[in-house]
Parts: sequence; structure tokens; C-alpha cells
Amino acid sequence: MNVQKLIETAKMLVADNKGLLAIDESIPTCNKRFAKLGIPQTEEYRRAYRELIITTPSLGESISGVILYDETIRQQKKDGTPFMQVITNAGMIPGIKVDIGAKAMAGHPGEKITEGLDGLRDRLQSYAQMGARFAKWRAVLTIGSSIPSRGCIEANAQALARYAALCQEAGLVPIVEPEVLMDGAHTLSRCSEVTEAVLQTVFNRLYRQRVLLEGMLLKPNMVLPGSTCPQQESVDAIADATVQCLLRTVPAAVPGIAFLSGGQSGELASARLNAMNLKFKSRSPTVGQSPSPWALTFSFGRAIQQPALELWHGKESNVLAAQQALLHRAQCNGAARQGAYNAAMEWTAAA
Ligand code: 13P
Repeated sequence: MNVQKLIETAKMLVADNKGLLAIDESIPTCNKRFAKLGIPQTEEYRRAYRELIITTPSLGESISGVILYDETIRQQKKDGTPFMQVITNAGMIPGIKVDIGAKAMAGHPGEKITEGLDGLRDRLQSYAQMGARFAKWRAVLTIGSSIPSRGCIEANAQALARYAALCQEAGLVPIVEPEVLMDGAHTLSRCSEVTEAVLQTVFNRLYRQRVLLEGMLLKPNMVLPGSTCPQQESVDAIADATVQCLLRTVPAAVPGIAFLSGGQSGELASARLNAMNLKFKSRSPTVGQSPSPWALTFSFGRAIQQPALELWHGKESNVLAAQQALLHRAQCNGAARQGAYNAAMEWTAAA
């Protein structure tokens, strides 16, 4: 294990004004999003869409790393340039989703366990040879009246830890993603309680599997009320609950926390990330120096891509407009990562 290389890559992924872009939707998930907009669900349309994204001019100014899917990592631009080369030339680091999905968990109705450990050592080696420098594994936890169960939390935490150890052995920085879903009518405090229990278990298992904390990143959900909860809290209340939960559970040795967006709108995801960074800045003893133990940034999928996908609609003539929309969301989040985002950035873009 090359410790220095892992630490260096992890630090680059959470560099000052940058965050990650997730374009690692599996084929069925990508097709589902295309189907909603009437876009043909073929390999060529998926390729063209990903080409649009990674060739967006200036994207590398706010995006440090791009998370790819197995189909995408092997694809090329129309002119034959491999996607891996396009990403690297734009100053971004390529990474790869390596789990094979969340499946129904035996004996646990309504709960899921993420699979993909079998053969993972070999797959990681071949992705590393292709040029990937980090990986991602997503566990999914649902909040319900008596779930998530301890059994589900522990099984998923164990799988995340085994995955993370194998990644580091292969020289890849593991992004550890335990996602507590926002689906449901639960309150902010219930999400906080569940997220705290999940993260506490995940870091316990990472420790037991001897994962180098300095050479990994955490990709958690923000602490949010359920999407159908009647009481939707303010941006500040959500930022406070999220930061409190992370301070209680994430060791200071972890270099960065990069949130998933999980179905939040682009604007809300930016505003909430911004509020968290502002809070740390305002507690700073020296102006401009953050007392946050870890970088707090983004690793959004939908909250960066959605407006671009809607504008593109599968048509070549819409590529430039879609790229502008994508860049705008990436820049808003680059600003939020520094506590410099404000709603006026949205009005300027709309004008
Ligand atoms: P969202 O930001 O759309 O939740 O996607 C992030 C991700 O990578 C999910 O695994």
C-alpha cells in the first residue's frame, strides 16, 4: 500500500474550491432518467451524454474528480479520444463505482445490502491499470417505523470496510458512502439519530479492517427531514444538525467529507453546503482559516446534472446550453464549498 499516494489523492479530491461530480449511474438508472424525458435508452445516447458532461469547458476549475461507471470508463469521445484521457487532460481525477448494487436483504423486509465483494480485488486492479485513482461503494439505509435494523447497519458497514481495505491495497482512495435515504415522513431529529448510529458503526468497522483514515473520503447524506415530513426545516437548522452529527462521529484524521445530494434540488443542496462552510468559517479564530477538522464539499450527481440533462433532451443542438447549465451548478457548488455561494448567483444565471 502506497500510503503517501493515497493521502495525496484524497487531498487533491477535496482541494480548496473543488468537489466531485458523480456520473456513475448504472445502465438501468441512467436509462430510467432518460426514459422520463423521452431520450432513447441506448449505449450511444449514454455515451453522448457523458461526452457532453466531461467536455464542458472549465469544468476542472470546480470539479476535482469524476466518478464513472464500468460502461463509461471504457468509452471514447466521438473522435476516438478515451474518456479517461479527456478527464485527465481537463485536470480532473477519474474514479469508478465498484459496488454492483443494493439488493433486498434476506430476513430484513424493506432493507437492502450492497453486493460486489466477490472478485473485487481483481476488478480493482484492472480499474487501477486503466487509470482510476479512487473508487466508490454506496450502501443504502431506509428509515421506517422499525428500520434500519442493527443487522442491516452492521452488514452494510462491514461490506463498506472490506471494500475500503481492498481499495487501499490496490492504491485507490475509497469513497465510503453510507446513504440514509430522505424518502419518508420522518423528522430531522430521527434522521440525525439514524445517521449518527450508521456513521458510528461504519467508522468502528473501518477501524477493525485497518483502513487508513487519512487515505479515504466519506460520502454521507446531509441530515434532513424526510421528503414528505410536514415540518421542513430551515437551511441553517439542517446545516447545524448535519455538522453536529459529523462532529460526533467522523474522526479528524479523515481529510474530507463530500456529500451526496440524494434528491435535493440543486439550489437547496448548494445553500445547505454553503451554510455548513460558513458556520465553520465564522467560528474561525483567524479570518480565512477554517477550524473544521475535515474539508466539507460535494460529490453530487443529480444536484449538478439534472438541469443539464433536461436541457439536452438527447439533441446535439442543445449541447452548449446543457454544458452551460452544468458548469453553472458546478460553480455554485465550488462557491458553496468555500461559504461564498449566495442566491444571487442563481438570478445572474437566469437573467
Ligand atoms: P446524488 O447526488 O444524485 O444523490 O448521487 C450521488 C451518488 O453518487 C449516489 O451514489
